[in-house]
Amino acid sequence: MRRAIVPGSFDPVTSGHLDVISRARALYDEVVVGVGANLAKQGLFTVPERVELLGEAIAGWDNVRVDVFDALLVDYCREHEIQVIVKGIRAVSDFDYELQMAQMNRDLAGIETLFLPTNPLYSFLSSRLVKEVATYGGQVSGLVPPNVHRALVHRLDLPDHRLGD
Ligand code: PNS
Repeated sequence: MRRAIVPGSFDPVTSGHLDVISRARALYDEVVVGVGANLAKQGLFTVPERVELLGEAIAGWDNVRVDVFDALLVDYCREHEIQVIVKGIRAVSDFDYELQMAQMNRDLAGIETLFLPTNPLYSFLSSRLVKEVATYGGQVSGLVPPNVHRALVHRLDLPDHRLGD
């Protein structure tokens, strides 16, 4: 059984994340979407909320499940017999840090990282920017799945029309 993990903060999951997850599930028998809970950052959504939003967004993807990890990623991988970490790379600016982490993870546990170039449709997209744009009433529909769109409207207390359809 070839298992991969797509780790991240997912605060919240975007269409770019979903693109990477869907491509990972075509390459591996099983894919775990790992929500990192040990990140000190205070998010817009709590970890359980992020898990719920992810679960709804991937509903019907039979070889994908969502889980939370709160330790070293490689320890989670060893414990769950996951051989590969999958990361989306949007631009060269992502690469420096991602390369460092990939090399550290391989050094720590021999776990390989597969970099997937993101779909150019989403190469400008990040959870941080989605939150910022939505906060000021910009259009983010299409950049996030519909359930996340609804959650943003609710959390940011915005009238529906300010975020588009
Ligand atoms: O979405 P993000 O914020 O880029 O995700 C970063 C994440 C969660 C993948 C990364 O910070 C991580 O793997 N954290 C777990 C702790 C860990 O293993 N740190 C050492 C990385 S070499």
